[in-house]
Amino acid sequence: MCGIVGYLGNREAYPIVISGLQRLEYRGYDSAGIVLNNDNETNLYKAKGKVATLKKIAENKNTKGKLGLGHTRWATHGIPNDINSHPHFSNSGNLVIVHNGIIENYNTIKKELSARGYTFNSDTDTEVLINLIEEVKLKNNCKLGKAVQLALTNVVGAYAIAVFDIQKPDEIIVARLGSPIAIGIGEDNKEFFVASDASPFIEYTKDAVYLDEEELAIIKLGKNIRIRKIQDDSFVEPNIQELKLNLEQIEKGGFDHFMLKEIHEQPNAILDTYRGRLLADKGIIKMGSVDNHIAKFLNAKRIVIVACGTSWHAGLVAEYLFEDLARIPVEVEYASEFRYRNPIINKDDIVIAISQSGETADTLAAIKLAKSKGAFVFGVCNVVGSSIARETDTGAYTHAGPEIGVASTKAFTTQITVLALMALKLGNLKGELSNSEHYNFIQEMSLIPSKVEDLLKINTEIEKIAAIYKDAPNCLYLGRGYNFPVALEGALKLKEISYIHAEGYPAAEMKHGPIALIDESMPVVVIATKKGHYEKVVSNIQEIKSRNGKIIAIVTKGDTVVKEIADHVIEIPETEEAFTPLLTTIPLQLLSYHIAVMRGCNVDQPRNLAKSVTVE
Ligand code: AGP
Repeated sequence: MCGIVGYLGNREAYPIVISGLQRLEYRGYDSAGIVLNNDNETNLYKAKGKVATLKKIAENKNTKGKLGLGHTRWATHGIPNDINSHPHFSNSGNLVIVHNGIIENYNTIKKELSARGYTFNSDTDTEVLINLIEEVKLKNNCKLGKAVQLALTNVVGAYAIAVFDIQKPDEIIVARLGSPIAIGIGEDNKEFFVASDASPFIEYTKDAVYLDEEELAIIKLGKNIRIRKIQDDSFVEPNIQELKLNLEQIEKGGFDHFMLKEIHEQPNAILDTYRGRLLADKGIIKMGSVDNHIAKFLNAKRIVIVACGTSWHAGLVAEYLFEDLARIPVEVEYASEFRYRNPIINKDDIVIAISQSGETADTLAAIKLAKSKGAFVFGVCNVVGSSIARETDTGAYTHAGPEIGVASTKAFTTQITVLALMALKLGNLKGELSNSEHYNFIQEMSLIPSKVEDLLKINTEIEKIAAIYKDAPNCLYLGRGYNFPVALEGALKLKEISYIHAEGYPAAEMKHGPIALIDESMPVVVIATKKGHYEKVVSNIQEIKSRNGKIIAIVTKGDTVVKEIADHVIEIPETEEAFTPLLTTIPLQLLSYHIAVMRGCNVDQPRNLAKSVTVE
């Protein structure tokens, strides 16, 4: 987590770094800081709270300087306060650092440095690292780049760092292991940008280099970037990529929150996900990364899915899809559990890793573990060029566009879209789906974007329901089959942005415990679409009603039975059962959104959370 922004060039660094930090606040937002170097003067401003607070503090101060580093923090070591905020200086006051990640052996290093007379102001691992760099530099009498490299060989943990020496303000050193870092290159190397993702510099340059694991870059004004491998000192040719991102994609576009914008982007996002893959007129699904490894997929004895949070919920939907449509057994694992329990992986297994950000530390570690056991790993990611996209053997991007709201919305539906395409394709090739069934599914998938579009019109209706339940202390979400994971996802959305305690359950499990919670103050959201265990779910609704629970039911358009019993019904258009999660999710996203707004919560940046979880 944490966001890093840096600038070195001929413009004023302050506005670039500050607005860059605001774009990266999704990565962490408990404190922020900036250091600016102007000829012989260096100014540091840090504050607990959001970048806006930092901005207020810096506003009337000296913010001059053509070199700057900024940081927005998600605390790991040391509480969020002014002192623990980055940047951090070395004891001499010459070296300055911003850091995203965790130095696991910082305590040992701290003790060694303390024994040599170093003192520390903060509780952070980062301040230890900058002093280690200083110690190495002095001891070896070497340049900063070399000192950073040598220091990092002694470090256990994860990092993306940017460092400079106030005595040499024409150079920034950056390095990464486990946390992302992008470098933007201005014309003729006259200016450089450094950031945790490319969004802080898209209006300045389209040329970017993404550092790979264990790489260090020396960025010097007027010179080409030099990249070295930290461990073996070899040089790497910088791979300059053209950025496809544009400014509009990372702005709110008239919506009050990114989350609402992203909910409304889903029709297009789903379309973009299957564009060029779902050829409805020909009745075929083309996916290069699956086609190129088709024998592996068709011979797979099992698919193991690893993911976290919402992506894990998408994995659960995929379990139903692959088993139902392609008859391939599936196991869905929390990446954080999988990586630590010595899992059994066979050579005929395919591991699918799902991640919006492509940076989730546990998912990345699970991939590395699966690969070390000889598994073939397929990635489903949204962020192009992300660590997971690069670590997997192959994969498919969701093409949802940047998702900035911390609560995942379009990431979920586009992940399901990709996984559904894979399941349909494999189902057909394995002979589990006839050509006509396959064709019908394809036609139906091509209608999903317009059905989502239609569904979004219920926004005001949902706002009214939200107003009734906004003060509920608890909420239960129930679903069966394909919609059981949607119940989990609905509950996660509500708790993460509104702080209302919510639980998702398979509807039939209710009577094994949760039914005890039901009384007249308990809203229960039940997904009761026409297909898939409809009658059973209707019985569950009756059971809740007889205990005076309040029912908000998601039903198929035209339903009359549930309408009679439920307190509120939200209709979704008819579709294939396998595709219902793409529709039933939408009202649940909107319900959480409106409840959170009415409760005065920070929808896009909920407390204690960060968009990409790059720590364990
Ligand atoms: C979802 O709303 C979350 N904020 C969170 O659960 C998220 O899905 C999880 O951290 C995984 O992230 P990833 O998809 O980027 O790997």
